[in-house]
Amino acid sequence: MEIRSAVFFRSAEHFSQLPPADKPEFAFVGRSNVGKSSLINKVVNQKGLAKTSQTPGKTKLINHFIINKNWYLVDLPGYGFAKVSKTARVAFENLIRDYVTRRRSLVNLFVLVDSRHEPQKLDLEFFEYLGISEVPFAIVFTKADKLGKNVLAQNIEVYKAKMLETWEELPTMFVTSADTGLGCDELRKFISENLQYYDTNAARDEE
Ligand code: GTP
Ligand code: MG
Repeated sequence: MEIRSAVFFRSAEHFSQLPPADKPEFAFVGRSNVGKSSLINKVVNQKGLAKTSQTPGKTKLINHFIINKNWYLVDLPGYGFAKVSKTARVAFENLIRDYVTRRRSLVNLFVLVDSRHEPQKLDLEFFEYLGISEVPFAIVFTKADKLGKNVLAQNIEVYKAKMLETWEELPTMFVTSADTGLGCDELRKFISENLQYYDTNAARDEE
């Protein structure tokens, strides 16, 4: 799929401030600093569209970017960042929870995990929550450029084995790098296929 345009649309601090759910959307979620904003920029080929930072906790709002004038990419705040106050952390987590369970135009959630790390409890619990809530998601391994080919492949095998301890089937997985662009073609293809099947009437019911 060709990205012809990618434009910032709106930031929301609360569910009630989100744009109308009238277009299909794909959201990026995951721990702080995992590379959500960087990967969005790489997928749309536009440096600086989503704000990135070396310091975790950069994205604090739900940011909508409108792509090709007819669908949204959504950058969510990171979860599990220990250095913000407990109140702020709970607020982010509630916002993410609200968003993933109630946003009827959400077609698919990309949950990003750092390919360098072994499966983290917080992420595994989040997958479980998504499963129970019937939210469609895919796992996106990030920062693959930071690992050699063998270690990368090995880490992904470890991840799959861990998932299969509790899941009958593995979700769709992508191996990516916002530096080299690895996996971005696959992400665009996945989005484009899902857009073809999207039908407003079939959008999930708002709870
Ligand atoms: P929050 O908004 O704070 O939750 O973070 P985020 O998940 O949006 O991460 P962000 O995209 O801001 O990236 C965090 C840091 O990781 C930045 O310093 C990026 O340059 C770096 N980074 C992100 N993706 C990659 C990647 O694929 N490869 C490498 N080498 N660095 C990356
Ligand atoms: Mg961010």
